Amino acid sequence: MHDPTATGALPVGGHEEFLVGATTDLPEVGGAVVELAGRRIAVVRDSKGEIHAIDDTCTHANVSLAEGEVSEDTIECWLHGSEFELTTGKPLSLPATQPVNVYPVRVDGTSVYVSVPV
Ligand code: FES
Repeated sequence: MHDPTATGALPVGGHEEFLVGATTDLPEVGGAVVELAGRRIAVVRDSKGEIHAIDDTCTHANVSLAEGEVSEDTIECWLHGSEFELTTGKPLSLPATQPVNVYPVRVDGTSVYVSVPV
């Protein structure tokens, strides 16, 4: 059954944390792609400096969200313009209607860690 309150947040438990790189590896505002446990994940720094991790593949078609434009805490798919909220994975505009998964991020000094289900 469709849950209208559903977001891309994943349940806690059964995760493994991976070091994905340094904060200096990321654009000042924007994303980079990493592959973790068979998933393509966009690690994205928003315009407030917060770092997020979401599925890299747009839920509308098979393109990389990391190549999209970031503004505040959203990223815009470069192909058709759907915006996704980086904190929840929710699409905020059409044509995408399904959320992307979001993953916990931990920053320790300059090291960036992302937890994914394994
Ligand atoms: S491929 Fe992303 S909105 Fe169409």
